[in-house]
Amino acid sequence: IAEERTLVRELNELAADWFVEQLPKSEKALNYIRTRHLSEETRHFFKVGYAPEGREGFLSYAAKNGFSPRQLVEAGLAVERENGGIADKFRDRLMFAIENLSGKVVAFGGRVLEKQKKPKYLNSPETALYKKGEILYGLSKAKNEIPKAGSVVLVEGYFDMISLYQAGVKNVVAVSGTALTEKHAEILSRYTKSAYLVFDGDEAGRKAALRTIEIVLPEGIVPKIVALSRPNGEKIDPDNFVNEHGASAAEDFNRELTKAEDWFDYLTRVTPTETIEDRAKFVTHLKSILIHMRDRELQHQYLRLLAERYGTEANFVGIRPKEEKRKFHSEP
Ligand code: CTP
Ligand code: MN
Ligand code: MN
Ligand code: MN
Ligand code: MN
Repeated sequence: IAEERTLVRELNELAADWFVEQLPKSEKALNYIRTRHLSEETRHFFKVGYAPEGREGFLSYAAKNGFSPRQLVEAGLAVERENGGIADKFRDRLMFAIENLSGKVVAFGGRVLEKQKKPKYLNSPETALYKKGEILYGLSKAKNEIPKAGSVVLVEGYFDMISLYQAGVKNVVAVSGTALTEKHAEILSRYTKSAYLVFDGDEAGRKAALRTIEIVLPEGIVPKIVALSRPNGEKIDPDNFVNEHGASAAEDFNRELTKAEDWFDYLTRVTPTETIEDRAKFVTHLKSILIHMRDRELQHQYLRLLAERYGTEANFVGIRPKEEKRKFHSEP
C-alpha cells in the first residue's frame, strides 16, 4: 500500500509538470487561458496545464521515465479501452492539479476547451492517495491565509478559487463539484470557525448551500451566505465577478462579504413557513441541526432566536440526534 501511494504521487507529480509544459505549445490552450485571465505566474503557481489531443502523449512520456501503462491506470492517468489497449485518460483538456495538504499533486480536474464538449469537467478517479471527500481544492495554498483572514471563502469551482486568489482574496478553497463532507468540514475547522459560502446562484448552488450549512455547523463553523450578481440582477459565480470587476475586484468582493447573510436568516428566508405544518417541520429541522452544535452558548442563542421567531420552546425535547453524527463525534 505504501508503494502504491508512492507510485500515485510520483506519477501525478510527473504528469502535473508535463501538463504545465504542454500548455504553451498549444495555440488553442493559450488562447483559452487568455480568455480566462490567468496570469503566467498564477498558471505556474497552481500548476494549470494542458493535456494534448492524442491517446498516448503522457503514456509515452511516462514510459521514458520508466512507468508502465498499467501503473498509469493505477494512478488514474490512463484508462483501459474496449479493444483492450490503454490510452491517456485526459485528452485535449485544461488541467487543474489537485494537491493534498502538503502540496503534492494527487489528482486532476480536466476542463474541455470548447463549450459544446462533454463532460465539462473530467476528474481523476479515487486512488490510494486521492479521496474526493477529504480534499479541498486550493487548501494547500490557502491554509496559512485562512487563520490570518479569520475566515474561509468556500466556492464551487476551480476557476472561482484561482481567480479570487489571483485577485488577492487568498483565504479561499473550492469544493469542486462534490458535496462538502463532514471530513471536509472537520479539516476546515482546524483553520477557522467562520465560513462564507459563495456558491453559484443556480438551483445546484442553492441546494449545495443548504447542505453545507448543515454539515459545517456541527464542526463549530458558523456559515454566512453570499449571492453574487451583476448590476442588472443576473446571478454570477466568483470567477465572473472577479473578471468583471477588474482592478477593484478584491475590494468589491470583500464588500460583498460584509453584506453576507447569517445562515439562520438565510434559512428562515428561503424556507416556506406559511402553514402550521411547514413551521413545525422547519422548527424540528432547525433544532435537529442545532442539537449538533458544539458551541453551547451559540447553540443557546440560536435556540432563543428560534423561540422568539416561531413561538417554540428553547430546548431539544423530542429532537433526536442523527446517528451518524453521534458516531462521528465520539471518535477520539
Ligand atoms: N464540476 C465537475 N464536473 C462537472 C461540472 C462541474 O466536477 N461536469 C465541478 C468542477 O470542479 C467545477 C465545479 O464543479 O469547477 C463548479 O461547476 P460549474 O459551476 O459548472 O463550473 P465552473 O467552475 O463555473 O466552470 P467554468 O467557469 O469553467 O465554466
Ligand atoms: Mn476577456
Ligand atoms: Mn454551477
Ligand atoms: Mn460556476
Ligand atoms: Mn465559472
